Amino acid sequence: MNTHSILFSPDAPWLAPLAGYSDLPFRLLCREHGCHVAVTEMVSAKGLIYGSPGTRELLMTCADDTPLVVQLFGSESSFLVQALERLRADGFRYFDLNCGCPVRKVIKTGSGAALLKDPTHLLSLAKDMIRVAGPGCMGFKIRLGWYSGQPVFLDVAKGLQDLGAGWVAMHPRYGAQGFTGDADWSQLSVLKKALSIPIIASGDLFQAEDAIRCVEQSGVDSIMFARGALSDPSIFDRYTHLRKGLAAPEKTCTQAIGLVRRLCELYTKHGMDRLGLLKMRTLVPRFLKGLPGARSLRRDIVFCKTWNEVFSLLNAHMMQTILEEQHGTHHR
Ligand SMILES: Cc1cc2nc3c(=O)[nH]c(=O)nc-3n(C[C@H](O)[C@H](O)[C@H](O)COP(=O)(O)O)c2cc1C
Repeated sequence: MNTHSILFSPDAPWLAPLAGYSDLPFRLLCREHGCHVAVTEMVSAKGLIYGSPGTRELLMTCADDTPLVVQLFGSESSFLVQALERLRADGFRYFDLNCGCPVRKVIKTGSGAALLKDPTHLLSLAKDMIRVAGPGCMGFKIRLGWYSGQPVFLDVAKGLQDLGAGWVAMHPRYGAQGFTGDADWSQLSVLKKALSIPIIASGDLFQAEDAIRCVEQSGVDSIMFARGALSDPSIFDRYTHLRKGLAAPEKTCTQAIGLVRRLCELYTKHGMDRLGLLKMRTLVPRFLKGLPGARSLRRDIVFCKTWNEVFSLLNAHMMQTILEEQHGTHHR
């Protein structure tokens, strides 16, 4: 497990942690389309230690799922350290501490972006975690700070670097902002200039072109796609083409249906039958959004109760769409 090292390069894009979405099948789909490093959904350190239901599924992985970063959330050193020890014993090698999630359920426990309210506590957790994970194996995903207009990221990131952090990923909004306003990429450039460890950018990378501009403007070592990958897992291919100075492949209805079909295959292959069906229903509308030819598929797929129904529907739509694309007509 996790045999590959992380290559830090703008040509090696990441899949961001996405609670509810960046599970094994989705990560594999993104990897098939050029994602280099993938991060798991956030895993509660406490949940891991107490064996909470669902935690095992969050940690499902396989030989092709590498390099993989396991993201933990928590605010108590004892749980975070025990969780790391257990994960390392299970063969996991790279880890991240979530210091950016602004969701109420997470921050009310002092975890996620709430950690930025108390940088001293955060750095003390980081010290304990890096000691267990090993130098270079532990990253931190931060925001600018918690309170709008009160940045703490520079001091926090410098402290993390001094303690032996492997990288810092930053989503340049404040915790209190949630997802409102714009991500301030200029602060990524400030961070990059101040640190020598790799900096990974997150925030408002909806299209491959956004990521190209973000790298050019900030000089970061790599980028991570989040909502951009949720609407199009082949965004990595598009981005890599643009990085090479080539035209990005066009998004077509046939290609989008192909992505849906592949995701469904990966869900069934990895035994996520029931859960996979539910997740697929939330992802498919995202993949097919803005493709007028897929309107009826988007409508019908949510009514499928079995994988057989899903695959029959997809095959029928694929055939129809290929014919329509050949004739230049989309009327469904
Ligand atoms: C549905 C969803 C789930 C997310 N889950 C996590 C998570 O588990 N851990 C985390 O650090 N960030 C999480 N994020 C934040 C993303 O990783 C990313 O930093 C953020 O969406 C900004 O990037 P974007 O604007 O390109 O989407 C999540 C975001 C979304 C939309």
